[in-house]
Formats: sequence, C-alpha cells, structure tokens
Amino acid sequence: MRRTVRPVLWSAVALVTVGVGSAQERPAQPKQKQLPVMVRKLTHAQKVLEALAREDYTLLATHADGLAACVKDVTWRINDTERYLMFSNDFGREVASLQKAAKDKRGDAATLAFIDMTMTCVKCHRYLRDEGISRVPDLGPLAPRTRPAE
Ligand code: HEC
Repeated sequence: MRRTVRPVLWSAVALVTVGVGSAQERPAQPKQKQLPVMVRKLTHAQKVLEALAREDYTLLATHADGLAACVKDVTWRINDTERYLMFSNDFGREVASLQKAAKDKRGDAATLAFIDMTMTCVKCHRYLRDEGISRVPDLGPLAPRTRPAE
C-alpha cells in the first residue's frame, strides 16, 4: 500500500511546486500578447451591438469602456492630420456618450450614440482610403487601403 501511495504523493508535491513556480513567474511576462488596438476596437463595437440588443447594461458599460481605452491607446494615433484628429475627437466624444448612456441605463440614447459612433468609423476609414493613408497594409477586409493605381 505504502509503495503506491508514496509516488502519488511525490508527484502531487511536484505538481504543486511546478504550479507555484509558474505562478510566481507570471507577473514578469504578460499572460497573452494584447491584440492590436484596431482589432480590439472592432470586437468591442460588435459586443456593444450585442449588449444593445439584449439591453445588457453591464456588458454595454464593459465594452464602451473598452472602446474608450482604445482611443486613448498611443497606437490609435497613427496620423496627425487635422481631419484624422477631428474624427478621433468625434469618436471619443461619441464613445463618452455611450459610456454615459450605459451608466444611466438609457437604451435609446445608447443606440443613438452607437449609430453616431458607427458613422465615424465609416467616415474615418473612408478618409484614410481616399487619402491613401495606411500604416500597415493588408490588415483585413475593412482596413483602410491605398487605392490601387489606375
Ligand atoms: C479616427 C479614425 C478611425 C476611426 C474613428 C475608426 N478607425 Fe478603424 N482603423 C483606423 C486606422 C488608422 C486603421 C489602420 C491601423 C493601422 O494601419 O495600423 C484602422 C483599422 C481598422 C480595422 C482593421 C484591423 C485589422 O487588423 O483587421 C478594422 C476592422 C477597423 N479599423 C474597424 C473600426 C471600427 C469597427 C470602428 C468604429 C467602432 C473604427 N474602426 C473606427 C482608423 C479609425
């Protein structure tokens, strides 16, 4: 009996030790590399739509906050033109309205803020495409792209 118990016990100790070891290492390296801000933005926007449809104000607040964090991310500001900054500011303001409506649990106000915000997504992307501004080419189907030479 003892013979079988011991190895089991030792392997349990080993497992716990390994577990503790990796837990201690964790803070040094981030658990997962954070996705690029532009990808996070899309996910948050999609989740906002889901939250609106469900009238789930907790979910709404979470993803409105996520969008606000995206705008503040340094990598958001890839461009310094007056119009890019204008669209960025519009977007930030609309996200703030969304956050407020989520907090006040006002579904219609939140939906309007979402529509305004979505218009700004489209406008900023159209602007970038028209001007041929793209930092990282071939980001995906929605990414602003340089127009092909005619
Ligand atoms: C102020 C301008 C601006 C606004 C507003 C904006 N975007 Fe973007 N978006 C960009 C830029 C710039 C890029 C390309 C980033 C790069 O080249 O690194 C981009 C890239 C993207 C991409 C491609 C990312 C990928 O890797 O596939 C998606 C999708 C996207 N945006 C969705 C959205 C959505 C959804 C919204 C609204 C909720 C939005 N964007 C609002 C400027 C904007």
